[in-house]
Amino acid sequence: MLKPLLQGIALMAAATTLQAAPIDLIIDTDPGADDVVALFLAMASPDELNIRAITTVAGNVRLEKTSRNARLAREWAGREDIPVYAGAARPLVRKPIYAADVHGEEGLTGIQVHEPKAPLAQGNAVQYLVDTLGAAKPHSITIAMLGPQTNLALALIQRPDIAKGIKQVVVMGGAHFNGGNITPAAEFNLYADPHAAEVVLASGVQLTYLPLDVTHKMLTSDARLKQLAAVNNQASKLVVDILNVYITHDMDLYGMPGGPVHDASVIAYLLKPELFSGRRIHMSIDSREGPGFGQTIADWYGVLKQPANVMWVEEGDAQGLFDLLSARLARLE
Ligand code: BDR
Ligand code: CA
Repeated sequence: MLKPLLQGIALMAAATTLQAAPIDLIIDTDPGADDVVALFLAMASPDELNIRAITTVAGNVRLEKTSRNARLAREWAGREDIPVYAGAARPLVRKPIYAADVHGEEGLTGIQVHEPKAPLAQGNAVQYLVDTLGAAKPHSITIAMLGPQTNLALALIQRPDIAKGIKQVVVMGGAHFNGGNITPAAEFNLYADPHAAEVVLASGVQLTYLPLDVTHKMLTSDARLKQLAAVNNQASKLVVDILNVYITHDMDLYGMPGGPVHDASVIAYLLKPELFSGRRIHMSIDSREGPGFGQTIADWYGVLKQPANVMWVEEGDAQGLFDLLSARLARLE
């Protein structure tokens, strides 16, 4: 009697140890329509992602609004347990720019906003990063970087040694083969604060970039929007309402059959890296005044013979992303 019981316990223990530990994650973000979709995807995935905090930055709209929108996303997802820290109100050097033409005056398309119930966490996001990464075990914390990289850059300038607490930074940003979305050369997050992105790159932390190259291959379609709508809960209705308006900007601009949901790809990459492929390459950032300002120069073919400094993701399974998003939204209210 006892032997099978002990064997069963041993098997259960083995299965538990085989299960990967959740990723210790900080989400740095400027919500932002696609940022909110990414936040939903992350907050609906507690088995894989231990979200330590959401840190906000000025980007798509001003800091007050990105911080309110992050708190709204948290409220809608029923995850008020996650602290939201507000960070940098402006880029390191350049004049602030916003993207209200894409994300709406409130930073959220297609839906009504209100003042969320739960307040911001006390303290600044930059100090939170310094304290948390400084106290972390070596290479233990992952950062999902969904906006301009100002907060992390300020933290690294203040305390360069905190880089050792970082496991990896997964960035939505940059563009290579088909050019940018805010200028012909630059993608918005890099253009909004290229100097910050340079600081993060120079810190030597492990970096993965998901540029427009891949996010423009993972587009909505009528069928995919119907798939999301079929989930039929509050979260999926919000996502569909947000996306129905958000995607029109890029569909009109590029003549594409659907729109990208850029930032959601970063969270999908953390949850299911097998949906994506890329290469380790050398990348540099142009922060000089001029037409190349904010451009990422991705040496995909290795012509410069420089050591690789980023993982550059070029391909993604679009249907896989929308299957994952629908399945996870179904776990929310
Ligand atoms: C990126 O810029 C922002 O407008 C989006 O939220 C995304 O992070 C796409 O270029
Ligand atoms: Ca964003």
